[in-house]
Amino acid sequence: MAYPGGKSGDGIFHKIINQIPPHDVYIEPFLGGGAIMLNKRRASSSIVIDSDADVLTDFVGQPGVIVECGDAISLLPDLVATLVSDGKNVFVYADPPYLLETRKSKRPIYKNEMMSEHAHSLLLAMLQKLPCMVALSGYWSSLYESSLQEWRSINFQARTRGGTATEWLWMNYPEPLELHDYRYLGGNFREREKITRQRKRWRARLARMSALQRYALLSSIAELGGTS
Ligand SMILES: C[S@@+](CC[C@H](N)C(=O)[O-])C[C@H]1O[C@@H](n2cnc3c(N)ncnc32)[C@H](O)[C@@H]1O
Repeated sequence: MAYPGGKSGDGIFHKIINQIPPHDVYIEPFLGGGAIMLNKRRASSSIVIDSDADVLTDFVGQPGVIVECGDAISLLPDLVATLVSDGKNVFVYADPPYLLETRKSKRPIYKNEMMSEHAHSLLLAMLQKLPCMVALSGYWSSLYESSLQEWRSINFQARTRGGTATEWLWMNYPEPLELHDYRYLGGNFREREKITRQRKRWRARLARMSALQRYALLSSIAELGGTS
């Protein structure tokens, strides 16, 4: 069954993964069902955190995945600071329990909720200080809007148990020119299919080339860089 507030829905994880630039270490501090962690290409190492030990069991013992049970708001700052000082390119995707006032149902749905506005203010202040790339999911609220004025955002419609809702993703980095995972490129199912077919054709053509021809192609692409 889908995890409450999970991002496994059709088109949802695609849109989020299409905003994630390349990184060495991936951190998902409010793991839940871990839809993004499960659907994106694995980073060299990943760290997953949740204060509910039950949601972490599936990830325990997976090579390259560190599992931490505890409060993400207190754990993240030191964790990120250590990794960044070791020269790691860190990406954090945070999908906390949404602010209660923004939810259709005002009833708690997680064993551990973030009921108070104060908890969200602490989270926002903490995330803003992290010295790495951060993406944060939520519904729009004046608190998030005013706290994250400097951040870029996208929004999109998502199907929920109670109908449709507008999902927001706030990011502290510019629109990526490169992605960590290109498998979900495209705005909708048809576009994604078209790009997947295109990539298969390119791969087949590349496989027929000599290594030197491939490197020549690579250097032409590098010359163009991110220009459109
Ligand atoms: C919105 S859900 C995450 C859903 C997930 N992105 C998915 O796709 O299934 C939020 C999660 O945050 C966890 N949580 C709540 N407060 C927390 C805290 N202070 N620290 C870490 N995890 C917390 C809850 O246990 C819940 O699993």
